[in-house]
Order: sequence, then structure tokens, then C-alpha cells
Amino acid sequence: MRSITIDNTGSGFAPAAIGKEARRLAPELARLKAAAQKRYATDYASINLPEDRKQLEQARSLARQYADADLLVVVGIGGSNLGALAVQEALLGRLHNLAGRPRILWADTVDAGAMKTIAETVERTLSEGKRVLINAVSKSGSTTETIANFAILAEILKRHEKGYARSVVVTTDEGSKFWEYAGREGFARLAIPEQVGGRYSVFSAVGLFPLAVLGVDIDGLVAGAAAMRTRCLAADVAKNPAALGAAAQYLHLRKGRNISDLFLFSPDLEAVGKWNRQLVAESVGKEFDKSGKKRVFAGVTPTVSIGSTDLHSMGQLYLGGPFDKFTTFVTIDADSELVVPDGYDALVSRIGGRGLGELMDAIAHGTMAAFRKTKRPFRHVALPDRTAASIGQFLQERMMETILLAALMDVNPFDQPNVELYKTEMRAILKKK
Ligand code: PA5
Repeated sequence: MRSITIDNTGSGFAPAAIGKEARRLAPELARLKAAAQKRYATDYASINLPEDRKQLEQARSLARQYADADLLVVVGIGGSNLGALAVQEALLGRLHNLAGRPRILWADTVDAGAMKTIAETVERTLSEGKRVLINAVSKSGSTTETIANFAILAEILKRHEKGYARSVVVTTDEGSKFWEYAGREGFARLAIPEQVGGRYSVFSAVGLFPLAVLGVDIDGLVAGAAAMRTRCLAADVAKNPAALGAAAQYLHLRKGRNISDLFLFSPDLEAVGKWNRQLVAESVGKEFDKSGKKRVFAGVTPTVSIGSTDLHSMGQLYLGGPFDKFTTFVTIDADSELVVPDGYDALVSRIGGRGLGELMDAIAHGTMAAFRKTKRPFRHVALPDRTAASIGQFLQERMMETILLAALMDVNPFDQPNVELYKTEMRAILKKK
């Protein structure tokens, strides 16, 4: 496995300043280290998912039963689908369905148009005698959008298949209402460890099962995550990428730069950006401090940019606008078979004979040079290849860095009490009607 590298030299702070801030994390790192021995018994449970061979084998062996599936529909939202979606697009590409099998559709929100298309696709696939698998994922087992979409698809399955239960896998907390319902209906069930929250669940059955059905190298994914876990538990913060990253981010926050842009140089990484948005937004965006007593209205606003596309829409702001952001550039070393043919240099000079990967690399490094020149703070995460191991490393670093950032900000990275507010209002509206 090749390690991902993180270069903080453009971050705007001297290594000594970052190191000093990172050393304040010693108590939190000690807690993480202790939690690493306690499996799922602490709030930090998610860091131990990559070591859990049992759940990996369970996801893999259940996935084998669907080797002949033509279409997989994952029904879930937020922490219950963003991780798997991020890995799928990063490794198989956003255009996977054009040639890859099984095809994959993601049913998240209750958009009538999108769900109609998904419902019709399921109907047509079944009518053609092909196999469809519905994986409904909900930690609580009671999310309105997920249950509504699941109900629509389940009824289609029922109309087409006598033993429709064979085509449904439910991933939820053991003991949730959905768990009990799935048991009564005879669906296969996968449990999410109780202490693992949605946005930290990508290496649980939530992510591993659908990814295994799609043929993703889940061993490589968790091996990458496990290797990064070791790096991010290092007590020597100079060697700990999560501690250094959290410290740099925190120093920027203290200077009033509370926007954190994840600038990914591949459209296939956009979903990684959206997964990261939820992770950071819900983990450190808090009304109260960790004690729950002091109102702090804390937060970092995570944004996503895609290279090179967004340079053509956002570049002016990034290089000429306010100094309110800290940018994390992510590049991926991709072998490119596609080369620009000779004969077009009169239109754009020096592109003939260049691979597309080489061009993207020049754009990415040009962007970083421009950021340096205009004194825009950034860091650079380089993924050495487009493998499951590299993606596993990156996602694990993001999660552990976020936990450490929350420690510096003195907020609880694992709860999301304010999200409940809109749900309560929505239930009241539905009740009235
Ligand atoms: O982080 C969270 O808790 C949310 O984004 C949830 O993941 C999302 O609301 C889905 O919840 P559930 O998995 O319970 O259906």
C-alpha cells in the first residue's frame, strides 16, 4: 500500500506554531488510544471499525448472494448513504452505470421526479427478469425520507416477486423499529454498532455491504483506514497528520477564517467532498460547548470545489476575494491512457502529446502556486493512486482530524441535537394535515 502524503507548507503558519497547537491534543490523543483497545464501548467506537473482521466477512458473504444482481438501489440519506456513495464514485466513477454491473441508484431525498425514475427503472429491470437488490439503510430506522422511499420500492418488489424478501437487505441499529420490521418480513439484516454515528459509519456495514455488492475492494479500503488510524494515533504530533491538520484548521478559525474548502482535483471525488461536508458541519457546528452549559455557536463551514471545473467559476473569488478560507487541495495520481493528439497546438500551445493526467497535474500545481503567490492558505493532500487503500486512508484521516478539531474547539463531535429541530416541526406539519 502506498501512503497518502499531506504537505502543510502552504498553510500560512510556521511548523512550530502548528506543532504547539497540536501538542494541546495530547489528552485527546490519549483518550483515542485508550478507545482503540475498547472496541465499540466508547464514543470513539468508529475508529475501531477497520479492525472488525467479523463485520467485514458478514458484509462480504451476504454480498456474494447478490452476485447476479443487475441493479442495486441504496435507500438512505446523510450518514447512511454519503460514505458509500463517496467511495463508489471515487473508485468506480460517476459514470459507472454506463458500463459497470450491477448498476447502482441512490434514493436519498423524497424528490418525486427522481424517485419516479428510480421506481420505473426497478419496475423495468424486474419485468426483464433481471435481479434487483434494495439495501435500505437507516441507523435510527425512522427517517421519513428513507422509509417513504423504501415503502414505494418494496411495493414494486412485492408485485413482481413472491419471495420478495430475498431482494431486500436492511442495515440499521439492532432493536430499531426497522430492525424488528425487517425480521418479521424475513429480510436479511445487518447491524450498525450502537455507538457508531451515521457520519462515522462508512467502514461499517453501512458502507461495506453495498460496496462489496459493487465489487469494490473492501479489504483494501479497511486496510487503508487501519494504516491511517495508526498514523493518527501517534503521540508524536509531528508525525500525526490528523493532529497537524486539526491544529492548522483551528489556528485559521481563531483568525476568523471559518470556511474550509475541500478542493478536489477530480469530478469523481465530488461525493467525497459532500461526505466531508456532513462530517465537519455536524461534528463541529454546535450551539453549546462540550459541557453543554455554555452557548458558543461554534463551527467551521465546509465547502466543496472541483478542479479544474470550479476554477472557471470560483477561481476569481478564491484568488481575489476575502481572506476568509483555508483550502485543502486533494490531488490523485491517475494513470491516463488518453493523450491529446498532435496538430492542435495552434489552438492551445504545448498540449499535443500530453496525457490528460499530466494536464490536470499542471492545473493543480499552477493553482497551488497562485494560492502561494496571493498568500491564500492551503495544504495539499496527495493520493498516490486511485485505489481503495488510498481512499480508505483519506476518509479515516478526515474522521480522526475532525474528532481532534472538535477537541480543540471544545465541542462534542458525535452529537447533532439541533438537527432534530426541523424534524419536530415537520412531524407537526404532517400531523396537522
Ligand atoms: O448524521 C446524522 O445523524 C444524519 O445526517 C443522519 O445520518 C441522517 O439523518 C440519516 O439518519 P438515519 O441513518 O437514522 O436514517
